[in-house]
Amino acid sequence: MTLLGGMDIGGTKCAVTLGRTRETGIELLVKQSFPTPPTPQETIRRLMDTLEELLAEKHSSEPLAAVGISCGGPLDSRSGVVLSPPNLPGWDEFDCVTPIRERFGVPVGLQNDANACALAEWKWGAGRGCRNMIFLTFGTGMGAGLILDGRLYTGTNDMAGEVGHIRLDDNGPIGYGKAGSFEGFCSGGGIALLSRVRAEEAIAQGNPPSFCATAAELDDITTQKVGEAAKEGDPLALDIFRVVGNRLGQGLAILVDILNPELIVIGSIYGRQQSILEPIVLEQLTKEALPHNLQVCRVVPAGLGESVGDLASMSVASAVLGAAPEAV
Ligand code: BGC
Ligand code: NA
Repeated sequence: MTLLGGMDIGGTKCAVTLGRTRETGIELLVKQSFPTPPTPQETIRRLMDTLEELLAEKHSSEPLAAVGISCGGPLDSRSGVVLSPPNLPGWDEFDCVTPIRERFGVPVGLQNDANACALAEWKWGAGRGCRNMIFLTFGTGMGAGLILDGRLYTGTNDMAGEVGHIRLDDNGPIGYGKAGSFEGFCSGGGIALLSRVRAEEAIAQGNPPSFCATAAELDDITTQKVGEAAKEGDPLALDIFRVVGNRLGQGLAILVDILNPELIVIGSIYGRQQSILEPIVLEQLTKEALPHNLQVCRVVPAGLGESVGDLASMSVASAVLGAAPEAV
């Protein structure tokens, strides 16, 4: 058994986890989350202090063996440098591996969040036994982790899977400065943007949605609120998720036709809104992708559910120790 530390750096929150390797996978011991601080320096300091606290609480008798960091890209996992992530403003060529390695004296690995989730789902979740699978984050941002021919495919300079920035339309919500991108339509931020525009129109027409009664509440719209309203049958919220589902299907069709995967695993929002999104996504996918590609491909929510992010950083930590998932 080996004690692993995990750090998950997201656009809205960060988490630190301790886990222990088991024959069957990872046992998560403890976790602490906090809102992402405004600067990278503060974020790394807070992550390290939190890890130290968790270690001091003696959740395990073994010494820490490695730390894995899962972070929104673009980043360079080989040098441990986070480049300029759209969802982490102010992070510009920031080395987050060295300070942690120096303070804890253990090997530290950095991986793109979508890649790390793909590894976790492949090793322990819905993707066990697959040779070709795609993981899509569909959270604060939209990114892909690609398992191709039985290994994580990272591309020429670690930039493979940056699918969120593919433009799907000339118009649409903005993601990473680009209107109508896959991330613009299919991310927490994008859904909130689209909902704001649609709610403003509806209020002006005297027909406010249940998730935003007056113009004064426009700034408080969140994807979670719109999601809850959709589940309760609010027509505008349902319409917004119809747009999102169609765009998700459109994006998936592109990926499916390029990569011919056997499985697509989608995180966060997809699992929470599966009953609404799944039929729309599959209909759109059927319209747009080649039938022979679709015959072999399934689309499922994360098998690890809401734990996929924690297990993602664990998969990075275990990969640093050389226990990377092997080709199947
Ligand atoms: C970034 C990706 C990341 C995704 C999810 C995108 O904006 O470019 O690197 O995987 O967000 O966090
Ligand atoms: Na990626």
